[in-house]
Amino acid sequence: MSGPLSGRTAVVTGGGTGIGRAIADRLLADGARVLTADLAEDGDLSAPDVAETLRDKAIGTFGAVDVLVNNAGGGVIRPTLEHTEQTLRATIDNNLWTTLRCCLAFLPHMRSRRYGRIVNIGAESVRNGLTDHAVYNAAKGGVHGLTTGLAREFATDGITVNVVAPSYTLTPELARALDDGTVPPRLHTVVEDATALIPMARPARVGEIAAAVAYLATDAASFVTGQVLSVNGGSSMC
Ligand SMILES: NC(=O)c1ccc[n+]([C@@H]2O[C@H](COP(=O)([O-])OP(=O)(O)OC[C@H]3O[C@@H](n4cnc5c(N)ncnc54)[C@H](O)[C@@H]3O)[C@@H](O)[C@H]2O)c1
Repeated sequence: MSGPLSGRTAVVTGGGTGIGRAIADRLLADGARVLTADLAEDGDLSAPDVAETLRDKAIGTFGAVDVLVNNAGGGVIRPTLEHTEQTLRATIDNNLWTTLRCCLAFLPHMRSRRYGRIVNIGAESVRNGLTDHAVYNAAKGGVHGLTTGLAREFATDGITVNVVAPSYTLTPELARALDDGTVPPRLHTVVEDATALIPMARPARVGEIAAAVAYLATDAASFVTGQVLSVNGGSSMC
């Protein structure tokens, strides 16, 4: 298939739902071959060795991996003092440890080929301190910090490392959950607060996040590394 990612291969973690699914669809539409990692099928990426197994599966399928999108994540969003040991750990594990472990697993392979595009999904809430997001922001802030450090360390290895930081994004799954009342009532307040912070006065669409990831995955972004690309309707500026 022709397109800006023709001939490239990509792994998208958490690619079965929400933003990750839109990213996988966009990379496919742009010509890449894409492997999505699914929690149920591929395991918990925050645990030791799971990321290495995913890497081996991807190399076994494609021969090599050009693009890694660390999208797996999502937080337990609640007031800080209402977190439990379990929700604190889950929030850090699912967002930071998944990304760290995948980077550690895929970077040696990318370095040996002197080519790689890593795109980590961060969060706008790191910048604007959104309601109930402190613990989640601790994890996503870690992802932002990991990104700049890796970008510098691997800058001469043909590898770029960037963040796409979405503001509140209305995924199909979240829209359904908000409609059918399966989310905690307080989450309605959080999404109202999140929307109020956005000058464009609406949440992002999944395709808008995927478009930013697709750009960073291409050769056109070869001189872009260590950046946080905010896709946020203006909710913070510069
Ligand atoms: N939706 C938003 O408003 C929003 C805003 C900013 C950032 N983000 C980030 O975007 C990414 C996608 O979010 P989404 O809204 O599509 O959520 P989602 O819950 O639909 O998707 C998250 C995916 O990550 C997977 N996952 C989570 N923990 C995992 C683990 N330990 N191992 C393997 N897979 C794991 C889940 O199975 C799921 O497929 C997340 O990193 C999220 O933090 C979302």
